[in-house]
Formats: sequence, C-alpha cells, structure tokens
Amino acid sequence: MFNAKITGTGSYLPEKIVTNKYFESILDTSDEWIYARTGIKQRHVIAEHESTSSMAEIAANNALQAAGVDASEIDLIIVGTSSPDRVFPSTACILQNKLGTKGGAAFDVQAACSGFVYALGIANQFIKAGGAKKALVIGAEANSRILDYSDRNTCVIFGDGAGAVVLEASEEPGILSTHMHSDGQYQDLLYVNNPIKDQKHDGDQAFMTMQGNDVYKVAVKTLSRIVDETLEANKLLKSDVDWLIPHQANIRIISSVAKKLNMPMERVVLTIENQGNTSAASVPLALDQAVRDGRVKKGEIVLMEAFGGGFVWGSALVKM
Ligand code: ACO
Repeated sequence: MFNAKITGTGSYLPEKIVTNKYFESILDTSDEWIYARTGIKQRHVIAEHESTSSMAEIAANNALQAAGVDASEIDLIIVGTSSPDRVFPSTACILQNKLGTKGGAAFDVQAACSGFVYALGIANQFIKAGGAKKALVIGAEANSRILDYSDRNTCVIFGDGAGAVVLEASEEPGILSTHMHSDGQYQDLLYVNNPIKDQKHDGDQAFMTMQGNDVYKVAVKTLSRIVDETLEANKLLKSDVDWLIPHQANIRIISSVAKKLNMPMERVVLTIENQGNTSAASVPLALDQAVRDGRVKKGEIVLMEAFGGGFVWGSALVKM
C-alpha cells in the first residue's frame, strides 16, 4: 500500500483588498471591533471577471509547478468549495478543462470551511487504496458572492482565495492520518440557502447567515477534541508537532487550539489578519505561504484542522 505525500503547494489571492476601514464607511462597525473580535484587518475580494475556478486554476498551476508534475499526469481532482461556479458541473470539472486535461475523476466536496481537510482525507484514501496516483486537492472560495454586504455579522469576516496541493503516491510517509466528523443538528447556525426556485426557501437570496457566538463555542470545544484524537491515533505527543496550520476563522479560536497543543504562537501559521476567513481555502493558503517562506520544511510534522457549517470538522496530520 502506498502513502500519499504532498509534493507541491500553490495558492492565489485576488488583487483587490478590502480593509476594515471600508466597512466603517458602509456599516455600523469599526476597525477596532473587527480586529479585537476576529484578528482580521483586511481580506481579498475577486474581480467581476474572476471565479472560484479561475482562482483554483492559478493555485493548481502553482502547485503543479512546485511538484514538477504536468497537469496531464493528474488522475484525480477534488475541490473543496461552498461557492462553486455553478450548481453543476462541479468546479473540479470546470478546473480540469481549464488545466487542459481529461479522463481522471473530478468532483467537489462541500464541507464548508472544512472542505479542504475533507478533500485531503478523501484523496488520501484514494491514493492508499490504489485508486489514484497523482491528485490535485484544492480549497477555493468566492465568499464575496454569497455575502450580504449589509450584514455586519458576516461580511466583515470572509474573504476570497484558493490554495492547492499535489498529492502523490509515495513509499515515504506523507499523510499520517485524517479525521472527519459532522453533526447536522447545527445546520441553522451557519448556512447559505439554496437559490434554486423550487426549494423550500423559494425566492430567498443565497446569502451566508451565521450565529457567530454559538458557532464559536462549539468550534472551540470540538477542535480541542480533534487535537487529542489526531495525536492518539498516531501515538504522538503534543511536542512532536512542528506546526499548527489551522482554519483561519478567528484568532481567538486559533489561540485556544494552540494552547491545547502547548504550542507557542510562533509555530502557528497565521494568515487571518491579511486574508480573513477564506473558508475551504484558508488551510491550503496558509500551508503554501509557510512552505514558500521556508517556515515549513521537508520532514516536519504539520497538524491541519478546520471547522465549519454543518457543523463539519476535521484534521490531518502530515509529514511534509
Ligand atoms: N461590528 C460591530 N458590531 C458587531 C459586528 C460588527 N461587524 N458584528 C456583530 N456585532 C454586534 C452584534 O450585533 C452584537 O450586538 P448586540 O449585543 O447589540 O446584539 C455584538 O456585536 C456581539 O455579537 P456576538 O456575535 O456575540 O460577538 P462575538 O464576540 O461572538 O464575535 C464573531 C462575533 C467574530 C463572529 C465570533 O463569534 C466568531 O468568530 N465566531 C466563529 C465563526 C466561525 O468560526 N465560523 C465557522 C467557520 S465559517 C464557515 O464554515 C463558512
């Protein structure tokens, strides 16, 4: 049986930056409130001509280049996204076409902010079972397209972007374990309605709705539990983890998970201040940044974790 190893990372952030100051001009909010409650100063927002798949394409090409893999070698594409270009076909199929390849499996995973961690877990199983040899695993979100810019509870928090990894069958250890969980009883705390006409919410605009403080409480509890579960599954100690790469939802949630791991904040990869919450894109965006700036090195142990609407949560322990 093969292991699945990350052999290249890539990412993309749109050029346009929206600062907290901008929100002061359109909403009853302040830079101080947003920064103190979330750790966010600015976020990137896609241009009219861009889309989830166009961001994914750039991130994917960067990851392919880093891995030294040609798109034609890819036999599996999984995109974690909750803001797809179309209801169908999947953003993964649209991306496959943009990459100029065909034939392999391509599908989206809808697991809100845990989309990338879920996609990585699925691709890992494919590779271990011999169902794929070279996979592109992506988290990409055009959150700005599902935000109501008059709702201060949500619009100040989210940003757009894409991150990607190439995952290859390898004899060396790579992904050590992945863990995925969900609890649908919380569906009304964080959701986007379906804009399709004959659904229950006929006529509603498809905007994100979030009961932030309730989400916060469950996220902190759940993420602490998954840290223990991941370490126990690998018989590792907290001190064996070199880097924490968390979903960038809120600096206070991230700090509480770091504390649980006894991990100093210097060993936590943070992008939230400049990128906001990019949902499924946040973990691979942070990973790519830390790989490219030389913080995360080959052979190091990285713990990724995420939590999002569903609720869905998950983790991956990876030897780089
Ligand atoms: N500016 C000013 N005031 C605001 C703003 C804003 N942008 N947003 C909300 N408020 C107000 C509220 O209306 C409320 O006012 P009230 O007391 O008069 O009713 C007050 O601030 C407190 O609101 P809370 O929601 O209790 O604030 P909290 O401290 O919980 O911070 C936040 C809100 C930042 C959203 C936090 O709860 C959070 O980060 N939650 C977790 C989000 C998360 O992890 N989501 C999961 C991933 S996302 C995904 O899956 C798509």
